[in-house]
Amino acid sequence: MKIFKSKHKLQKALSNQKSLSFVPTMGGLHKGHISLIKKSKKFKEKVIVSIFINPKQFNKKKDFTNYPRNLKKDLSVLKKLRVNIVFIPNKKDIFSFRPKSSVYLNSFSKKLCGQFRKGHFEGVLNVVNRFLEIIKPKRIFLGNKDFQQLVLIKKHILKKKINTKIVSCKTVRERNGIAYSTRNSLLSINEIKIASKIYRILSKEKKKLSINLKKVKEKIINAGGKNIDYLEIYNINTLKKSNKLNKNTKLFIAYYLNNVRLIDNL
Ligand code: PAF
Repeated sequence: MKIFKSKHKLQKALSNQKSLSFVPTMGGLHKGHISLIKKSKKFKEKVIVSIFINPKQFNKKKDFTNYPRNLKKDLSVLKKLRVNIVFIPNKKDIFSFRPKSSVYLNSFSKKLCGQFRKGHFEGVLNVVNRFLEIIKPKRIFLGNKDFQQLVLIKKHILKKKINTKIVSCKTVRERNGIAYSTRNSLLSINEIKIASKIYRILSKEKKKLSINLKKVKEKIINAGGKNIDYLEIYNINTLKKSNKLNKNTKLFIAYYLNNVRLIDNL
């Protein structure tokens, strides 16, 4: 496993690499990341994982400072997975050049998390656009848990005619139903129990023929999920809000437990 901290050294090493599988991360690796990497390995191409906590996608300074960091553990996870290349750039390497493509931000960015996290998706797209230009991967691997991020990156790649395919990967859950997320490590035992209860409420509601979102919100609040940013149904093909659950729609939620913001879709 080769570790690069300098963009120029990385680009030199990649100059004759045609087919790279790229897994972008902000570190704090968990089973969700591991499943992305395992999937990327199936394509039999060199796998490159980036670790970069992108300051531009945090809309609250406290969230950025509290974001879990454990580089030593991350590197040992990546080594075990036999990742070929790890790229750990600094801020200057990423932000000090003018990318050839500007960022295309589809209007879906204004929905769901976009209403509550000002500048978040601009920040994500900004950094992903730069990574795509530096690495020029054949494929990028992204999780469905961050569905809105995935869609917006897809729209950007399409619009800007970037030669990278997106491989979307299914959400990985803990035994208690909670979707793996780096921020889960900030939850107390009691908060984990609440998050698991909320998952069970949502998966039960998802199976019903009709759903009353207001009542479901009440159930979530009673379970301890005090601060709900949104609970909405969206058609995942048209990206329009819906009031029915069917095979084309998904239930999207964002809520807080203490200061930790959790998102999920099912
Ligand atoms: O999903 C993430 O961890 C981040 O948003 C990403 C894609 C690595 C960009 O910083």
